[in-house]
Amino acid sequence: MEILGIDVGGTGIKGALVNIKTGELTTERHRIRTPKNATPKAVAKKIQKIIDHFQWNGLVGCGFPTPLMHGKCITGGNLHEKWEGVNVKDLFKEKTGNEFSVVNDADAAGLAEVNFGIGKNKKGVVVMITLGTGIGSGIFLDGKLLPNTELGHIFTEKGEEFENYAADSVRKKESLTQKQWGKRLHEYFRHLQLILSPDLIIIGGSASKRIEKYEKQIDISIPLVAAESQNDAGIIGAAVAAKYHL
Ligand code: BGC
Repeated sequence: MEILGIDVGGTGIKGALVNIKTGELTTERHRIRTPKNATPKAVAKKIQKIIDHFQWNGLVGCGFPTPLMHGKCITGGNLHEKWEGVNVKDLFKEKTGNEFSVVNDADAAGLAEVNFGIGKNKKGVVVMITLGTGIGSGIFLDGKLLPNTELGHIFTEKGEEFENYAADSVRKKESLTQKQWGKRLHEYFRHLQLILSPDLIIIGGSASKRIEKYEKQIDISIPLVAAESQNDAGIIGAAVAAKYHL
């Protein structure tokens, strides 16, 4: 069975049809830039464009870059403050006419990896960290998700949010070398190791494609690996999460 998976990010909105039995994309992915002024209205328009591209009529699984409680955004994340309090599922249904299932984007990426990727059949605590415009997190115990952990927002020793210090977008903005950025990631992952003692950390998001460029800087005692489905994990996981919504 296929479901349209959409991953809304701070920089791009990506979609593809996903075979939810195998976790494979059955089409090329289609990417649209996230509008600069990413208000609910502007993003809903882009969601409609993705739906039109695939001529899709049915359930849509959507990964969304904010913490969500019962479908409502708790903050506007890296999108826009106007998202706070918005029920994303209801809004997208109203604007497009399609049924939606919405989960946090990093939770979605983790779901893809524990169901089909490098975290499959892993016992214990598995942590997905997405490194992109922001830093997102998904925590799994024996494959079961603890939703809405927001580990990008923990603080450095100097009192700065790690998201504003070590996201991939910060590397670009501050023109950091991979080595300089890797050192920041070392601080971050060392901290996560201390507070969570996970069995495995999986890196997702745009930075998962080039882990070999910075992993040498990260000296921790637990395995740190790239998501097998790389930056597609968010699309796949969003579609898989929608399956439970059926
Ligand atoms: C948001 C998270 C999201 C992450 C990655 C953060 O700013 O608070 O909910 O998962 O960005 O998009």
